[in-house]
Amino acid sequence: MVEELGEQSERPLSITDQLTSEYNTVFNNKDLIEPDTIVDEDRIVGRDEQLNRVINIIKPALHGDQPEDMLLRGPSGTGKTLIAGTVATKAIKIGASRDVQMEFVEVNGKHKKSEHEAIHQITHAFERELDLEYTSKTGVSTSSRYDRLFDIVDEYLDFGIVILDELDLLVGDSRNKDEPPAFSDILYKLSRAKRIGKMDSSFTLIVTTNSPNSLMSGLNSRTDSTFNPTEVSFADYNANELREILSHRRDAFYEDALDDDVIPYVAAVAAQGEGDARFAIDLLREAGNIANRREMQTVHKSHVEEAKNQVEKNYVVDVIENVSFQKQVSLFAAAVVNLYGQTELGRSDYLTEMSAPATVAHTLYNWITDHEDIEQRSKHSFLRWMRELDTYEVIELNRKGRGNEMGVFAEYIFHNLSAEAMVETLADKDKRFANVLEDEELLKSVVQTNLKNF
Ligand SMILES: Nc1ncnc2c1ncn2[C@@H]1O[C@H](COP(=O)(O)OP(=O)(O)O)[C@@H](O)[C@H]1O
Ligand SMILES: [Mg+2]
Repeated sequence: MVEELGEQSERPLSITDQLTSEYNTVFNNKDLIEPDTIVDEDRIVGRDEQLNRVINIIKPALHGDQPEDMLLRGPSGTGKTLIAGTVATKAIKIGASRDVQMEFVEVNGKHKKSEHEAIHQITHAFERELDLEYTSKTGVSTSSRYDRLFDIVDEYLDFGIVILDELDLLVGDSRNKDEPPAFSDILYKLSRAKRIGKMDSSFTLIVTTNSPNSLMSGLNSRTDSTFNPTEVSFADYNANELREILSHRRDAFYEDALDDDVIPYVAAVAAQGEGDARFAIDLLREAGNIANRREMQTVHKSHVEEAKNQVEKNYVVDVIENVSFQKQVSLFAAAVVNLYGQTELGRSDYLTEMSAPATVAHTLYNWITDHEDIEQRSKHSFLRWMRELDTYEVIELNRKGRGNEMGVFAEYIFHNLSAEAMVETLADKDKRFANVLEDEELLKSVVQTNLKNF
């Protein structure tokens, strides 16, 4: 196809001119504010208590003793991964200087779909660190992977540290309600191997979670009695602490590239939300990216303002993509009610175009699970998942009176990310959602009929 060349398509500069023109960036060392950088000790602000506890728990490993397992718990962006990673890295260096062969590996529950995948990654990471031959990725049973892992620890290490990051998210796929989540099996098998002293050397588990309740309530009784971690809690940061954290990375930018009010403003915005240091750092970086795209020499407060929306949206999408499949189905049902119910919602005396009533969302949950032959769980579970999605700030749960004696009802409000964006995100992720949407007219009429009867 030949494009019509309008007046606008005439370029002011040739491609070569543009590619070779002066390159401006506000970043001097962008790495410092990239999401997964584990920064040096001197950039860690506060958290003395948590550092001390983690250090004291790990320390016995350097003296031939067995450390306790640990559970680092607290909201997202409060430094759990940073503290675990920094202390583990240091311990290994010290170990090396004293002839104690130590390694640490990390696996994030968010990025793994099953027990098998997680154990493969742990084994693979040890193989890489120790320069061993890799076990093949396929055709090896889960139990052989465990055996390989224990062999490696036994044969090549004096001590291993295994960081199971955001472990509560490793639920596993298509499990029925009597099966424990994947993380329960992993914790059981890893802690049991230590207990029964299969190996001459040993390892410690550092588990982190943003949602200790999901994790602990997901453990079955045999795991519960084998895995007894020492818990270390991490609380949200306040604006002052966030300002300090950001100030210690000021040199990610050139000297004059940040207006004076940018760091205090980013800290204030982040503290108003969750007190999440990751959010603060992401916001600062995005503001810098916006300034760069505008070819400006300085980051202003207005760039932060602009970045805020984008960063918030990315967060919601990230949560949606990583919650369990049943939670996704529940959310999808609620979002479909809002998306296809706009006219009825607009007409209603009690509802708004931002919301979806819980009872109708639940009816759609049943409809969708029937339609796609997805395991249908109880209304009680549906309501609980939606409450959890409220605590992750994906939707907001609101209880409302209908006036008179009509009683109170629950509704889900979509304001961080539109129902349409959620439906799209999920349909891209799983073809079962896309299938549901193919019956658009039918789906619409189910939603509308149910809303009319609400
Ligand atoms: N006390 C702190 N000092 C410096 N940087 C921090 C601190 N706490 C968190 N950060 C930074 O904030 C981001 C999120 O921290 P992280 O450890 O990943 O949080 P969590 O694991 O609790 O979700 C990381 O970039 C981390 O380097
Ligand atoms: Mg983390």
